[in-house]
Amino acid sequence: MKLAVVILAAGLGTRMKSALPKVLHPLLGKPIISHVLDAVTPLRPEKTVVVVNPHGAPVRDALSGRENIVFAVQKEMKGTGDAVKAAVRSLAGFQGTLLIVNGDTPLLNADALKRFVRLHAARKEAISLISFLVDPPHEYGRILREHGKMVGIIEHRNATDEQKEIREVNSGVYAMQSSMLGMLKNIKINPEKGEYYLTDIIGIAVRKGLRVGGHILGGPDEYSGINSREDLHEAGLILRRAIAHRWMHNGITILDCDSAFIDPAASLKADTVLYPNVHIEGTTSIGAHCTIYPNSRIINCTIGDNVTIKDSSVLEDSVVREHASVGPFAHIRPGSTIGPNAKIGNFVEIKKSSIGSGTKASHLSYIGDAEVGAGVNIGAGTITCNYDGVSKFKTTIEDGVFIGSDSQLVAPVTVGKDAYVGAGSTITKNVPPHALGLSRARQVNLEGWVERKKRRPAKETTPKGDSHGR
Ligand code: UD1
Ligand code: CA
Repeated sequence: MKLAVVILAAGLGTRMKSALPKVLHPLLGKPIISHVLDAVTPLRPEKTVVVVNPHGAPVRDALSGRENIVFAVQKEMKGTGDAVKAAVRSLAGFQGTLLIVNGDTPLLNADALKRFVRLHAARKEAISLISFLVDPPHEYGRILREHGKMVGIIEHRNATDEQKEIREVNSGVYAMQSSMLGMLKNIKINPEKGEYYLTDIIGIAVRKGLRVGGHILGGPDEYSGINSREDLHEAGLILRRAIAHRWMHNGITILDCDSAFIDPAASLKADTVLYPNVHIEGTTSIGAHCTIYPNSRIINCTIGDNVTIKDSSVLEDSVVREHASVGPFAHIRPGSTIGPNAKIGNFVEIKKSSIGSGTKASHLSYIGDAEVGAGVNIGAGTITCNYDGVSKFKTTIEDGVFIGSDSQLVAPVTVGKDAYVGAGSTITKNVPPHALGLSRARQVNLEGWVERKKRRPAKETTPKGDSHGR
């Protein structure tokens, strides 16, 4: 069976009250319309026509790189019936089944769509739609039936009080024979909204004696249409819960699934524990027996087994090896590798650096463009000065080095194996292996200075060098 898909995405989305086109609002890391495309792509349509409005460039841009998509422009937003009409030219010469979906229903399920298209073909229906039962029925179009047979759809805003009670509603998913496109011209303008409703095609087909089918397939979660920010929030919750339940089923403990943001492309292994408000984004993979404490965001990272990520840490495009610990309040920036058993502690920023096995940077450091060996101890407040305002330079810290607190390592520079750097040093020259590198002014102690100061008459000005701030 030949299949083409039409996605209606030209609507203005006024209920969103947004400068961003409705279908581009992100939902779990990708635009609403990308979710729709992901649901229809497994049906392998010959062609997918996305109907956009004349300001649809951002939608085209967001979908560039997708295969087999053509865009049709609906010049004026005159309703869903008019939107399908706008796609007709792009479908010239196509004969087969058309699957029409709204661009604002991101929770569509590919398997249900496949079943629906098969049902439509098997029953030899001219036009079919998916309906579902929901209470309350919100603003969805109500399915009208006589003796069980679908005879039409009435939109919420046009429904009588009695019709508003109907709990069977239109999902906005239709399958029709391409020959039905000719019938679009029979849709009359709805005087109240000044729109051509695609939904009217059902009544038209029934009156012409054609076979129509309304199939209840799945529930409200799948067909949730996004019209407002509340709907977007609701859809996000549905998706997050579904993903969290899948991972719990696979042995992950999730303390609060409503606040666990796990990208569909991410993966986790058994006995890992996620505290509330953890974001696992992109293609991140997390090993077994890890603990991710609250408010952390992990983007496109590979995390080994038995890793601990303490509260409020951000990790991007990096690798953290087994038994390492990161955070609280750490930032691992792209291109970093944290070795096994390493400890990256409070307020430490690591950028494009590799940190060796068992190495510790426990407090308040910046380590950028550095290669740090194994068993290194980086004291509190240590900074690699990797940037001279123009170029970036590399710092090498070999195995077993001890860097005293509050040191600066001015790159390019190497601290050799097992060397020490004295606290408070500014290191501008290489430190040879096993040496002590020290660069600070010698300390002077003025014996009895405090007593002398107390005895000084109050008016006397303090001699230079003896002043101190309060
Ligand atoms: C529509 C259906 C309703 C159904 C619901 C399911 C109609 C008249 N009503 O209502 O029966 O229960 O979807 O979610 O079809 N669009 C265009 N051009 C336009 C107008 C809309 O491309 O001129 C697109 C929108 O971008 C959107 C889709 O069509 O993706 C549906 O439009 P929307 O205004 O959201 O329709 P609903 O009121 O949700
Ligand atoms: Ca809608």
